[in-house]
Amino acid sequence: MNQLLEQLKAIVGPKGWISDSDALEPHVNEWRGQFIGRTPLMIMPASTSEVSQVVAACAEASTGIVPQGGNTSMCAGGIPDESGTQILLSLARMNRIRAIDADNFSIEVDAGCILQTIQEAAHDAGCCFPLSLGAEGSCQIGGNIATDAGGLNVIRYGTARALVLGLEVVLADGTVLNSLRSLRKDTAGYDLKQLFIGSEGTLGIITGAALRLFPDPGQLTTALVAIPSSGTSVSLLGKLQQHFPERVQTFELVSDYVFGLVDRYIPDAGLPFDGDYPWYVLLEAATGDGPGHLEEALMEAVEEGMVLDAVIAKNSAEVDRLWRLRHSISEAERQAGKALKHDISVPVSRMQEFLSRGDELLEELRPDATLVAFGHVGDGNLHYNVSLPHSIDSEEFASEGKRITGAIYDLVAELGGSFSAEHGVGRLKRPYLAEYRAGPEYELMRKLKNTLDPASILNPGKVI
Ligand code: FAD
Ligand code: MLT
Ligand code: ZN
Repeated sequence: MNQLLEQLKAIVGPKGWISDSDALEPHVNEWRGQFIGRTPLMIMPASTSEVSQVVAACAEASTGIVPQGGNTSMCAGGIPDESGTQILLSLARMNRIRAIDADNFSIEVDAGCILQTIQEAAHDAGCCFPLSLGAEGSCQIGGNIATDAGGLNVIRYGTARALVLGLEVVLADGTVLNSLRSLRKDTAGYDLKQLFIGSEGTLGIITGAALRLFPDPGQLTTALVAIPSSGTSVSLLGKLQQHFPERVQTFELVSDYVFGLVDRYIPDAGLPFDGDYPWYVLLEAATGDGPGHLEEALMEAVEEGMVLDAVIAKNSAEVDRLWRLRHSISEAERQAGKALKHDISVPVSRMQEFLSRGDELLEELRPDATLVAFGHVGDGNLHYNVSLPHSIDSEEFASEGKRITGAIYDLVAELGGSFSAEHGVGRLKRPYLAEYRAGPEYELMRKLKNTLDPASILNPGKVI
């Protein structure tokens, strides 16, 4: 191992590695504190050629490599295991915007670019890069692509997959695969880049990406709406989509309990309502000529009993205030303590059924559990989390967690949904992939893994 470590250090030079345990700490810890890994070395290449040499050296020594972006994974995907034998490979130094082509609505970037930096570069060129999530100030585009991240604008623009035009990837033997083409149309053989999108670092290391840009969406109107029940959100969504076809870009359901956590744990992030309502929707639509049309649509929804109250942001400070509430949820939830996280999706047409059957299921399984639900209901994706009483010990938490999670995932599967909508599988949900995708799908995944990474050196112990 020592010989390999010296070889890796020589490839990247003195600025390209860290082995000090204090400096490594934020890179080996999962951000919610559920897992703490160990590594002898974090290597930080500055170019694709250096990544290629690092991977080739690790392949030669049969040593595992864990690619890491911003380390904001929700399922411990980007940290090494506890063995202390896996090399951590950070893309942080590969953070250049390589080129921007506003006429082609495309941008080419290093994989280590922070998502927000790409949004800003697109904006400066008069365009929009629509991928947006709470972690956008620290997550990297390579991590976003590797997890096929979703976030807040999927209903209009799709997940990360829909935004990738081309990729540059280092394969498990160090070969550089260059599919970095900024084309909308390309039917020359198999679309290889798709293999790496959502593969969570287990099939290759993404070093560069060509991304799709969009025209600036113009005036956006943001509103927070109180609704009488979670199921009403689906009818409200349908109504708004009729009023604003293809122009509703955010539609987020949040329970009163969840906003209560934000109010409790995040300073100055209270709700802008006097009333006390059970559920809320945060929505944003491209309204073109001002908020008038949205106001009319919401008034209609009030008359039809879908909406109880609404606040439409009148200026950028009010927009920021509404978004702050939404972006604070993960941190508030973390501070509130351990919960069972279920990042599920079902077809939007079955969301109402999922919500009511989910309620019944929880009542039957554990009446003293609390539902902590929020998420991207416009995409059929809910964070259907469950908090158990603080009085139970960790053994009971684990056994009850297994029982409740299994029952929720069974319901999701029955409704044609997925146990992992946007966070990926990582380490946390690996057993569920084997269970819920068992059969030819899982076998083909295994064959792909064996073909592309026969010695299993890329992110070992994750996904498959
Ligand atoms: P990391 O956490 O570092 O890594 C994630 C996975 O990708 C790991 O398996 C890692 O090995 C692999 N990886 C990283 N870089 C590369 C690379 N260059 N090549 C190959 N593999 C790589 N996710 C959503 O989908 N939607 C949300 O709305 C959302 N909101 C969030 C809000 C907060 C506050 C936080 C903390 C997280 C949120 N997430 C969300 C989860 C997370 O931010 C995303 O999964 C994000 O895409 C991960 O990016 P990262 O750079 O932090 O990747
Ligand atoms: C979100 O929608 O805020 C994220 O996916 C993060 C989370 O689930 O906590
Ligand atoms: Zn989410």
